[in-house]
Amino acid sequence: MRPITKENPFKLVFVCLGNICRSPTAEGIFIHKVKNHNLENFFYIDSAGTAAYHVGESANSKSQTTANKRGIHLPSKARKFEYVDLEEFDLILAMDSENYRNILDLDSKDKYGHKVKMMREYDPQPDMKDVPDPYYGGMDGFENVFNVLERSSEQLLVELKEHVKE
Ligand code: 4NP
Repeated sequence: MRPITKENPFKLVFVCLGNICRSPTAEGIFIHKVKNHNLENFFYIDSAGTAAYHVGESANSKSQTTANKRGIHLPSKARKFEYVDLEEFDLILAMDSENYRNILDLDSKDKYGHKVKMMREYDPQPDMKDVPDPYYGGMDGFENVFNVLERSSEQLLVELKEHVKE
């Protein structure tokens, strides 16, 4: 992997279906961690959804409540993941296997598959492959999503930090 510098920040985008629950939570957690490590100039952090149903919306209120309780702000406004994102980003993190397939379906010339990973590849306690969709459930599901994303983001940052050249 290339060195991560202030001149050439590492660009990562978290992707789910609606871009209102899981990926905005991952984005908010990762922004928070990067700031805590004084590395905000080394990363460009975004999120997107494979579907357009919620474009322009802020994060779901249950996601916001769950994150705010832990001191984390979710700044996202939902947008759809586009082909250009495959070109622009260094790392594309799919929340579940359906998101993963939908992202790769855009890559008809098979140029960018190496940039696309499942978020739970970074989970030190991966009890399943997907970050489960909490949208139709209660607060328990949102709490679980937060916990999965908190520990996966921590491991992701540990791995990326090794490439930061201050
Ligand atoms: P997300 O959750 O993909 O984590 O943002 C969902 C949000 C909306 C819908 C499904 C999942 N929906 O069907 O509208």
